Amino acid sequence: MKKPVIAIDGYSSTGKSSISKVIAEKLGLIHLDTGALYRGVTWFALQNCLEEKGTINLEVLFSSFDQIELEFKNDNGELILFLNHIDISKAIRSNEVSDNVSFVAKQKEVRDFLLQSQRSLAEKGGIIMDGRDIGTVVLPDADYKFFLTASIDERTKRRYHELLSLGIEADEQQVKENLIERDRIDSEREIAPLKQAEDAIVIDNTNLTKKETIEEILSHVKKI
Ligand code: DC
Repeated sequence: MKKPVIAIDGYSSTGKSSISKVIAEKLGLIHLDTGALYRGVTWFALQNCLEEKGTINLEVLFSSFDQIELEFKNDNGELILFLNHIDISKAIRSNEVSDNVSFVAKQKEVRDFLLQSQRSLAEKGGIIMDGRDIGTVVLPDADYKFFLTASIDERTKRRYHELLSLGIEADEQQVKENLIERDRIDSEREIAPLKQAEDAIVIDNTNLTKKETIEEILSHVKKI
C-alpha cells in the first residue's frame, strides 16, 4: 500500500511541526518542516547578504542560491537542519531570524528556489509536510490536507515557552507582535500566501492539547 502524503498548513505557532513529527512517527512517514527551510535561507541571508544599514540585500541573496545547501539529518528522531554542513537548528529559531523570515519568504525567487526540492521529496509518497502553502501550492494533490488555527493569545503563550525552552530570551508582548506581523505578511503576500486550501480540514486547537490535535488528525487519516 502506498503511504499517504499529508499537508499541514496554518498560522504560526499552532503546533504544526511538533504535531507533524509525532504523526510521522506513528504512521512511518518522513516529516518535512518547510518553515525551517525558509528560516535557513533567512539565516544565510543575515550572515552573508547584509547591507551596511543592516537590511538584507535581496539581489546578493538571489545570486547566492548556488552556495546554499540545506539538508536535514535525523538524530534519534529529531530532525537537525544543516546549512553547508553546519548545524543551524538552534540559530534558525532566533528572534533575528523570526523578525526577517516573512520578508525573505515572500520573495518569488526564494519560493521558486525551495519549491522543487519540496515537491521531489513527496514524489514517492510517505511524507507529512508542514508549512503555509503545502495544500495550496506545493502539494495540491496531497491525500490529506489540514489547516491549523488557534487564538493569538494561545499561540503567543506556546511560542514564548518554546523560546524559553530553547534558552532564547523572549518578551511576551514582542512575541505576540512578531506572530501578528508574520501572519499578516504571510497572508497578504502575492505568491503562495498563507491560506486554507478549499479541501482542507480546519482544526482550531485553541482548546485542544497537542495529543488531542494529533488524535483529531489521525481520526481523519484512518477514516478515508
Ligand atoms: O513555520 P515557521 O514559523 O517556522 O515558518 C517561518 C516562516 O516561513 C513563516 O513566517 C512563513 C514562511 N513559510 C512559508 O512562507 N511557507 C512555508 N511553506 C513555510 C513557512
